[in-house]
Formats: sequence, structure tokens, C-alpha cells
Amino acid sequence: MTTFHSIAIDGPSGAGKSTMAKALAKRLGFLYVDTGAIYRTVGLYVARQGRDCSKPAEVLPCLDEIHLSLTYGEDGLQHMILNGEDVTAAIRENEVSRYASQVSAIPEVRTFLLEMQRDLARRHHVIMDGRDIGTVVLPQAEVKIFLTASVEQRALRRHRELLQKGETISLETIREELIQRDERDSSRAAAPLKKAEDAVELDTSALTLEESVEALLTIVKERISI
Ligand code: DC
Repeated sequence: MTTFHSIAIDGPSGAGKSTMAKALAKRLGFLYVDTGAIYRTVGLYVARQGRDCSKPAEVLPCLDEIHLSLTYGEDGLQHMILNGEDVTAAIRENEVSRYASQVSAIPEVRTFLLEMQRDLARRHHVIMDGRDIGTVVLPQAEVKIFLTASVEQRALRRHRELLQKGETISLETIREELIQRDERDSSRAAAPLKKAEDAVELDTSALTLEESVEALLTIVKERISI
């Protein structure tokens, strides 16, 4: 039986997890799994039904109506398919960040998505990013990284991303939303955002993208012989 390698990257919103994980996956030939995209897809569905994402009684009936799958395009990038529709772009709209954070605090939503995430790691070498990958989803991952950056840096990066996509929103609003989301993601009872005991913490505030990727590669190579 082939055993597959798993690398878990957790951390707060905007710390650069997906950019780093994508770059690392390319260098290593691993599958990149963005678990935030899965929560975003659930949040998008619930909001589209006109329901309140923060209310379990409104969210839970939706779970039976959701068929989710994850595909990889020719570009090698992860696409989210919701009931047959490719929602990869729609889930990146700014308000979907809040919907995702709200539905993700509901334990039944987390259970609903858990096997899907674990199954990917059983079938591929993965780099998976999220909030609870090293603590709950893949506690046996050989490499666990907790990526952080100052709230100022994270807000600046998110602001730049949204501007590039044509969304006009002030830096201050983004900063406040980030703080609220961090607070909700870290204080919830179900699988809160926290560093796994055996995770290596990397603060990327003062590092360029290239420097961060090199630092991560060094951490990975110390733990997995590839
Ligand atoms: O990584 P992201 O910003 O796209 O994630 C959106 C929200 O989904 C985030 O605020 C918290 C939630 N999330 C989670 O609870 N657990 C994960 N493994 C990934 C994301």
C-alpha cells in the first residue's frame, strides 16, 4: 500500500497560507487542498437561499441539499463544484468570507466536511491549508506549519487582492473584518483556530513571498525525505 505524505498549514485569515501552499505544492508535486474554499462553498449556498449563516436551525436543513465536489482544472488549480455549478470565482467575493466563518462555527457543518478532507489525504500527497488541519483533520500530518503575520500586513495583502479583482473596499474595513473573523474562528468551541503543539510557527510579516516559500521548504525537507 502506498503511503501518502501530508503537510498541514494552518493560520489566521490573510497570513498567506494559500499563496505559500500553492507555491510549495508546485515545487513538491503535491496536491494543494484549500479547505477554506469548501467552507466558503457551504456559506455561499446557505446565503443564496436567503438564510442566516450564523443560525444552525437555518443552516442545517441546507446540508441535505448540498452536493460538493472538488476538481482540479488543467491549470492545476482547485475548483469548487456546488450542485454541478463551478463556484470557484463566486466564493472569493468579500462577503462570502463572513458566511464561511459563520457556518464553520457549527459543529455539524464541520462533521459534514471532515471525511471529504481526510479522503483526499488518503489518496494523494497533500498540502492542505485551513484552521484545524494539524489539530483535527490530519493530526498525523508529518509536517505542520502555523503561518502568521501581523494584522496590518494581512489587511494590506487582502486589500491588494480585492483591488486587483475590482472590489473597492477600504483598508480599515478589511482590517476590522479580519479582526472579527480571527476572533470568531479562534473562539468557537468546534475545532477553533489554534496552533497544534507539534506545529512549527512561521511569521511572514517581514518576509517576501520567495523568502517565505524557502523557509517553508526548509521546514518540510527536515521532516520528509522527498
Ligand atoms: O481560508 P479562508 O479565509 O478561505 O476560510 C474561510 C473561513 O472558513 C474562515 O474564516 C474559517 C473557515 N475555515 C475553517 O473553519 N476551517 C478550515 N479548515 C478552513 C476554513
